[in-house]
Amino acid sequence: MPATGLRLAMIGLGTVGTGVAKLLTQRPEHLRSLGVGPLELKTVVVRDPAKSRGIDLGGARLTTDFDSLLADRDIDAVIEVMGGIEPARHRIAALLRAGKHVVTANKAVLAEHGRELFEIAHQSDRSILFEASVAGGIPILAALAETLCVNRIERISGIVNGTCNYILTAMHERGLAYGDALRQAQQLGFAEADPTLDVNGSDAAQKLAILARLAFQSKVDWRSISRAGIDKLDSMDLRFARELGYVIKLLAEGEVVGGKLSLQVTPKLVHQNHPLAQIRGEYNAIQVHGDAVGDLLFSGKGAGEMPTASSVVAGVIDLATGRGQQTFRALRLWETEPAGPHFDPTSQAKSRFYLRFTISDRPGTLARIASILGEHGISIASVIQHETPENKPEQPVPLIIMTHEASDGPVRLSLAEADRLEIARAPSVCLPVAAHA
Ligand SMILES: NC(=O)c1ccc[n+]([C@@H]2O[C@H](COP(=O)([O-])OP(=O)(O)OC[C@H]3O[C@@H](n4cnc5c(N)ncnc54)[C@H](OP(=O)(O)O)[C@@H]3O)[C@@H](O)[C@H]2O)c1
Repeated sequence: MPATGLRLAMIGLGTVGTGVAKLLTQRPEHLRSLGVGPLELKTVVVRDPAKSRGIDLGGARLTTDFDSLLADRDIDAVIEVMGGIEPARHRIAALLRAGKHVVTANKAVLAEHGRELFEIAHQSDRSILFEASVAGGIPILAALAETLCVNRIERISGIVNGTCNYILTAMHERGLAYGDALRQAQQLGFAEADPTLDVNGSDAAQKLAILARLAFQSKVDWRSISRAGIDKLDSMDLRFARELGYVIKLLAEGEVVGGKLSLQVTPKLVHQNHPLAQIRGEYNAIQVHGDAVGDLLFSGKGAGEMPTASSVVAGVIDLATGRGQQTFRALRLWETEPAGPHFDPTSQAKSRFYLRFTISDRPGTLARIASILGEHGISIASVIQHETPENKPEQPVPLIIMTHEASDGPVRLSLAEADRLEIARAPSVCLPVAAHA
């Protein structure tokens, strides 16, 4: 298909929209050198047109009138960078029905209503391009959908939330408590004023649902993904992890176990030599294991004005060349029964575990905990118990146990039993250990 120009509109001119406007208006020669016709930004819809923006829109009209886009036959494609579920969902649906392609960075609306929107796109013979919705500037969706498509993807493991990775890095490297690290992330613009969906693992689960659809061709409701965030982490566990040679990362992982797809978002201990342990601050990374290609690591900035705009504009260029429409058709994202393994929310791969018990330091304590673990078939790999001051024998002390590989169920049962012992002084803590790369 020959490359053509596109007449564009955009909804939203915040962080990402500003970056997109800059790329579209400030480098026409570069865009021409790609063999793409003019990409003309004609209209930008915002909430507050009086807001000072500090950006030259190159003649584009700024308006609050979304409905005018639907009737405008001179607009071929619309960039949706307003975010949120509503009115984004209804607007994307209306634009597709009105014959416009849509490029979006909105993982929330795709995780929640993706199938419905993909079906409308299919029925309307239009495409949705959504590279920017997962891991900002990292071209992971294109890699899964195009370059890696001959592979059977066996495993993906990613750091897909920059806010959490910034906070965990600050806790690990500078010994900050969770609350202080979060405040610093907010001051530096790496965390929202309300960070709930980031720190409780929901944002990562939404991204994992989109990744899983492309990597495994499975249907996934993001709400069914087992998830834990970083908001309950104690800096003591990061210190013990460090002593053992590990860092703690919030991992979004998918794996085919016994023919079923297992998905999970949870903080895990990652060995310091593991490639994902090197991903610091607001950076993201996704490790993919394909049966033909082996292990691959994609890393880079998972958010921010220009990295995210880079992925959005890549979608626009793909539409102009016709590649985007071809890929969208080939993905068959609207199908109700995709070809991949069935997602089983209860399925969990075996792993090693880090356990922290808070106990009174009395003779025989370690033996009692070891015996409970042994009764459930869990074998101990190493133990840390620091000395307590001689004059405070009853002071609660942390007992750290690293297990060999075990199943999640027996580990949870053991912890519940240990927490009922009279020597238990606080609920135990359990974190899985990531498999070596
Ligand atoms: N920020 C990132 O680094 C990043 C990374 C990856 C993906 N994303 C995704 O990109 C999208 C945009 O994020 P952002 O950070 O750019 O958001 P943002 O800075 O909050 O900007 C949102 C923009 O949308 C406009 N808007 C909001 N509601 C509107 C409505 N009802 N009608 C018209 N315009 C409306 C706002 O208009 P006003 O300016 O007039 O208020 C603003 O310009 C989200 O889906 C987000 O998840 C963001």
